[in-house]
Amino acid sequence: MNLAQILFSQGFGTRRECEVLALRGSIRIAGRVVDDPAARIDAEGLVLDVDGESWPVHAKALVMLHKPAGFECSQRPSHHPSVMSLLPAPLRRRGVQPVGRLDTDTTGLLLLTDDGALIHRLTSPKKHVEKVYEVETDEPVTQRQIDALLRGVVLRDDPQPVRAAACVQTEPRALRMTLREGKYHQVKRMLAAAGNGVIGLHRSRFGALELPPDLMPGQWRWLGSAHEVLGPAVR
Ligand code: URA
Repeated sequence: MNLAQILFSQGFGTRRECEVLALRGSIRIAGRVVDDPAARIDAEGLVLDVDGESWPVHAKALVMLHKPAGFECSQRPSHHPSVMSLLPAPLRRRGVQPVGRLDTDTTGLLLLTDDGALIHRLTSPKKHVEKVYEVETDEPVTQRQIDALLRGVVLRDDPQPVRAAACVQTEPRALRMTLREGKYHQVKRMLAAAGNGVIGLHRSRFGALELPPDLMPGQWRWLGSAHEVLGPAVR
């Protein structure tokens, strides 16, 4: 690929905007300015410097975000800013979207990608990718409620009972719950069906990937490959 094509593939604007970006000397590779948009470059493992910002070239983008409360996962948010506003423009432009949704008041690990097949792989209920939630409850948790969540509860508008793959009490009013599906408001609806309520919800793990403790709310980071989420033993 030539330099302009690489910039275009990474979301740096229209083909013409990418040519201009190169022509005005904004791009450095290994410390040297490359101002010829037609320069042939091997994109494999390439790290661009775009106006002083390091940009690792990825054929498909996969990033994790520590979602803060008060942001919507929708592309067209109605009452709050979109999580997309926390990402740089090139990622937004290349069509990155959230892998499933977290509620506006939910915090924690959110994945975003422009790889449609990967979104399907990570969200399909048949693939059993586990999500772990730290749940702060309204009322003290009882053993009866934990048993019900593990056995399966029936949600309104869904006759099939849904159950937690794992559920442990971590505080008198807190649970750690593992789910293998991603139904609408699933944790809140399951807790309600078990006779309690949710006052705080945080996702701490998605598949094999834990939210890193040094990734602060609102910060994002590249993932090297989907295996960081899928783990070595892919089913
Ligand atoms: N379950 C919920 O109820 N809300 C979330 O944001 C995620 C899972």
